[in-house]
Amino acid sequence: MRITLGVTGGVAAYKAAELVRRLQQKGDSVQVVMTRSAREFVTPLTFAALSGQRVITDLFSDSSGGEPNLESAIEHIAVAQRTDLLLVAPATADIIAKFARGVADDFLTTLYLASTAPVVVAPAMNVNMWNHAATRQNVEILRARGVKIVEPDEGYLACGMTGPGRLAGLEEILAAVHEVSKAQRDLEGETILVSAGPTCEDLDPVRFIRNRSSGKMGYAVAEAAAKRGAKVILVSGPVNLETPAGVERVNVRTAEEMRHAIVQRFADASIAILAAAVADYRPAQPRAEKIKKGSAPLAVSLEPTTDILAEVAKNKGSRIVVGFAAETDHVAENARKKLASKNADLIVANDVTAEGAGFDRDTNVVTLFSRDGRDLALPKMPKSEVAQRILDEVLRMRSVLHAPAPRHSNV
Ligand code: PMT
Repeated sequence: MRITLGVTGGVAAYKAAELVRRLQQKGDSVQVVMTRSAREFVTPLTFAALSGQRVITDLFSDSSGGEPNLESAIEHIAVAQRTDLLLVAPATADIIAKFARGVADDFLTTLYLASTAPVVVAPAMNVNMWNHAATRQNVEILRARGVKIVEPDEGYLACGMTGPGRLAGLEEILAAVHEVSKAQRDLEGETILVSAGPTCEDLDPVRFIRNRSSGKMGYAVAEAAAKRGAKVILVSGPVNLETPAGVERVNVRTAEEMRHAIVQRFADASIAILAAAVADYRPAQPRAEKIKKGSAPLAVSLEPTTDILAEVAKNKGSRIVVGFAAETDHVAENARKKLASKNADLIVANDVTAEGAGFDRDTNVVTLFSRDGRDLALPKMPKSEVAQRILDEVLRMRSVLHAPAPRHSNV
């Protein structure tokens, strides 16, 4: 897991160094972010040496105090995207208050807002600060938001007082990290086959027909599924995207190659999510030589490709099969037709003409049409978030479809 460890200003900041070491021993990579007051207690160098990574200390300049630049100004977004879990230890009353209220005035608080990763907070502070009504309320706000709070230990505090406020033991913090990350890995044991990107259908050796798919939607699904613990096989048309961590990628070019790759791997999958924009037609007779320029109109005869989704879903057994529908009109009507005609369990429909939706964007606006009659319209959101919602719906569908049949009594 890629853990971002936020270290805030308290005497217990030195204990975070041991936390870095222990997380790394488990195989996690740790990116440390320090607040200004944390640096009063421990130097960034300590964490840089332990984590083997540059420590982030500022929103607008690099840790060496360099000039503000655009790269550092948007770094919180990049770090948010690669964070699987945000751990803050020790967490001061100040950072808890800022998280609760949505204040974003430094790197850590901005990262908290920009990240969708689960959050674990291990508070450490003076006993009266911990017991104060303001802190109690802020802690409850975070809890209600799903943040895991690792309660501080009771004992003798650095300020000379006794009571709750001491940073919880490292074992307890590590157990909380483990518990939260396991809850996020609800697809462990699943093998998910994902398709993404366009296909290219050759007209001649130098020209081909393709569509505008960038692969972003399918890659977001593959990445989200891998993060949630699934084994993911991504069958990808030609795109300019990096393979998400932990994902097995199979490159294809044409609809027929995509069909072959998917059919071959379908038997091993428990879930298939086909987001690729597969060509519906291909040139019936691709030329062996380059088509020469002429003055007469050129007619190209196209033949239909095989519908991969319909082919595999025909004999899907207990697998959950998800298709997409790229529509420009009558979205709901067409999506429902595709759900039935292709024997899918779920159709993710997008109106590709809508603002912020469809091809080559980082966001999408979709409605999920399920086999059990549920329509779930989602607002515009990042494709990474759409991917999570699709996976949630897949799990819901499976529990609905595979629920044990009600027992009939003879009475
Ligand atoms: O890649 P991006 O730039 O991020 O854009 C995302 C997207 C718009 C491509 C994506 O959200 C999307 O809508 N994907 C499906 C595109 C598509 O081909 O839709 P369709 O309505 O033509 O096809 C319906 C379903 O049948 C799809 O699941 C498709 O993969 C499948 N299909 C289609 C044709 C074919 N020959 N075989 C298939 O399996």
